[in-house]
Amino acid sequence: MYSRITGTGGFLPEKVLTNHDLEQMVETSDAWIRERTGIEKRHVAGEGETTCDLAEAASRRALAAAGVDVAEIDLIIVATTTADKIFPSTACLLQKRLGIHGPAAFDVQAVCSGFVYALTVADKFIRTGSAKKALVVGAETLSRITDWSDRSTCVLFGDGAGAVVLEASDEPGILSTHLHADGKYDELLHVPTGVSQNYDAVRQGRAFMEMQGNDVFRFAVRTLGKIVDETLAANDMKKGDIDWLVPHQANIRIIAATAKKLNMPMERVVVTVNEHGNTSAASVPLALDVAVRDGRIQRGDTLLLEAFGGGFTWGSVLLKY
Ligand code: UT7
Repeated sequence: MYSRITGTGGFLPEKVLTNHDLEQMVETSDAWIRERTGIEKRHVAGEGETTCDLAEAASRRALAAAGVDVAEIDLIIVATTTADKIFPSTACLLQKRLGIHGPAAFDVQAVCSGFVYALTVADKFIRTGSAKKALVVGAETLSRITDWSDRSTCVLFGDGAGAVVLEASDEPGILSTHLHADGKYDELLHVPTGVSQNYDAVRQGRAFMEMQGNDVFRFAVRTLGKIVDETLAANDMKKGDIDWLVPHQANIRIIAATAKKLNMPMERVVVTVNEHGNTSAASVPLALDVAVRDGRIQRGDTLLLEAFGGGFTWGSVLLKY
């Protein structure tokens, strides 16, 4: 028994913030942002627009693409760092919106690696027969935890959601999944406030992302290189066997380094960081959806999905689309 992606969906908030807009807000330049990150613009949620709103829109598109009715869904997993409420989970809120009653629904918190983690969990539910049709979503409103006066972080992030329907199938499907984490690096990329620690900052609206960008960059490049090797070795595959790299969209320089490690021309890499910025858990499913809908990714293609993020967490999924 395999699990197979049968439909993808994506959704971006209407409001767009360009690099030129950011030039009016902090001391930065379009040239610096493009050169160091590859980002040209990002979408940000409007007033009152929530992570669940974005998740619902992406989910409905994925369900339509798969030709699956909501009543058939027997598992919902939402990867997010920016839940609508402290509780219940965004997955439960999404379940209510979709009018589904009964099946398991929960959030996965692995920051930018969240979707790769969620897809891995859903794959295991399906392979063990615990679910047949899962909705797996990555959705974020990072703009809510962005310090818009900090130029070292505010130019990097954006909001959005991506979703897939994952179904039980006799044909592959997800071939292998690889998850890792090392919590000793928590302070290099974090929001240092939460419910049981520094809650006053949350009350006062000062719960913002902080990042040691340089350290994260170096660790990400090294680690993503290693996970490429690990994934190929586990499947007895060569670099040339991968048709498409669908990477986490944090920085074009990190993406290019991973592509180089695979000897892959950039034409075989799905890049959305220029248009979306870093949307954390939403970035991989959004990129996947873009390349499926524009016809680049075709049924039967071999895809390598990979991500790296706060925790640190990192992981990959190798699959036949
Ligand atoms: O998704 C989770 C994982 N996250 C990531 O993978 C992000 C990883 N990190 C990065 O992508 C990069 O480190 C950044 C894009 C965040 C920063 O790029 P960098 O090439 O590492 O720049 P830097 O931090 O070394 O800064 C270089 C210079 C500094 O000035 P000085 O000290 O050389 O005078 C910064 O103050 O650039 C300055 N700087 C800026 N200048 C204009 C930092 N941010 C900006 C800015 N505009 N927005």
